[in-house]
Amino acid sequence: MKRKSLLYEGKAKKLFQTNQENVLLVEYLDQATALNGLKKDAVVGKGQMNNQITAILFEKITEKGIANHFIKKISKTEQLVQAVTMLPLEIVVRNIAAGSFSKRLDVTEGTALPFAIIEFYYKEDRLDDPIINEDHIKVLEIASDVEIREIKNLALQINQVLKELFAMIAIDLVDFKIEVGRTTEGKLLLADEISPDTCRLWDKETNAHLDKDVYRRDLGDLISVYREVLQRLENKGESSCI
Ligand code: TMP
Repeated sequence: MKRKSLLYEGKAKKLFQTNQENVLLVEYLDQATALNGLKKDAVVGKGQMNNQITAILFEKITEKGIANHFIKKISKTEQLVQAVTMLPLEIVVRNIAAGSFSKRLDVTEGTALPFAIIEFYYKEDRLDDPIINEDHIKVLEIASDVEIREIKNLALQINQVLKELFAMIAIDLVDFKIEVGRTTEGKLLLADEISPDTCRLWDKETNAHLDKDVYRRDLGDLISVYREVLQRLENKGESSCI
């Protein structure tokens, strides 16, 4: 598979066309950002951690029959994915109160939520990605009623798979963000990455943060916690039969 022209450069990834139609190459970068790009640092090794973690999580999601864009990891920092048109949405699922939810609604971080909640954010840097509701999504013509229902089902299914997977490696899945794309045939697919950049992961025993909050809140060394997550995921087969 040959890398061709650069299609898009984001905060932590580059997206290239390939010599195969409908197949894109994602390169994960050694870059950490927070506060919508206001905080930015080079972090050696982060690209390969997130590429490997995303590959493991998408393989698990594929195994469970959930439609997604992942094809395969082709190098330490690169993976191939199916081309889709991304919906300008960030879909957040929360199991435990934290982050912007705790701040906005004054709910103590760590409070278990009675059921998994879903939030939508309009992906638009210019507006600072505002929270929106299902009516906004329809009025902005981002997705139809039927598609919104499908996206919510997809988000809850992924939550179930990931919650169980992380529980097996002594991690609580506090919350996470996903993104969805549409194929040329109009089918919705889970796309983008799932990694400690896009999830809140707390150690079950110590509640230590094993995610990007380490960087956002200056709590320690980002690479060592990402490595810890990867090692637990890689070693999970030794202690269980998932
Ligand atoms: P929040 O509490 O800041 O709204 O974040 C909720 C979850 O979504 C958390 O796991 C981090 C993830 N997230 C992203 O991946 N990208 C983003 O731009 C934001 C705001 C959150």
